[in-house]
Amino acid sequence: MRRRLLSVCIVAALSGGYAAAAFAQAKPETLVKQRKAAMTMQGKYFYGSLNPMAQGKIPYDAAVAARNAGYLEVLSKLPWDGFAESTKDQKDTGALPAIWTEPAKFKAAQDRLQTAVAALVAATKGGNEATVKAAIGDLGKACGNCHDNFAKQ
Ligand code: HEC
Repeated sequence: MRRRLLSVCIVAALSGGYAAAAFAQAKPETLVKQRKAAMTMQGKYFYGSLNPMAQGKIPYDAAVAARNAGYLEVLSKLPWDGFAESTKDQKDTGALPAIWTEPAKFKAAQDRLQTAVAALVAATKGGNEATVKAAIGDLGKACGNCHDNFAKQ
């Protein structure tokens, strides 16, 4: 009996994944809130600033573009450990079930985002406006690629 209980605990701990490994057990609704907050902040710097700059809707500012790219470099790493199995049945979320049925594809979409952000950071260091704008466009596609498959909006 005791041994069975122990193995149940081990399975529960393992299925918690990397979120549970490095943090005290957070409530599923807290994880959802946190990952949405990280996404919201990406939206602030991308849709609110970089994207309209690339589209010519606001003036291009190389210093602001470089700063915001640096913010996104960190922000783009933050949401993922919030997609723990424990959050699967949460209601107040725009996450689609495909996240849990197609984990490799979801991970690939995260990697594509990270690659696109790294390319943007590199472009802002080069200082060429056209290259930066093209990198912003690619980054937008990386956001959209994942949203099309894994988010309601
Ligand atoms: C690998 C997948 C993936 C990538 C890449 C991605 N997102 Fe998201 N995004 C999601 C998912 C899933 C949700 C829904 C999260 C939830 O509601 O729990 C979401 C939600 C959002 C939201 C709504 C947050 C809220 O409060 O409801 C915004 C804004 C957002 N993303 C912006 C972005 C921006 C900007 C980028 C690119 C810089 C981006 N996302 C890249 C998967 C992704």
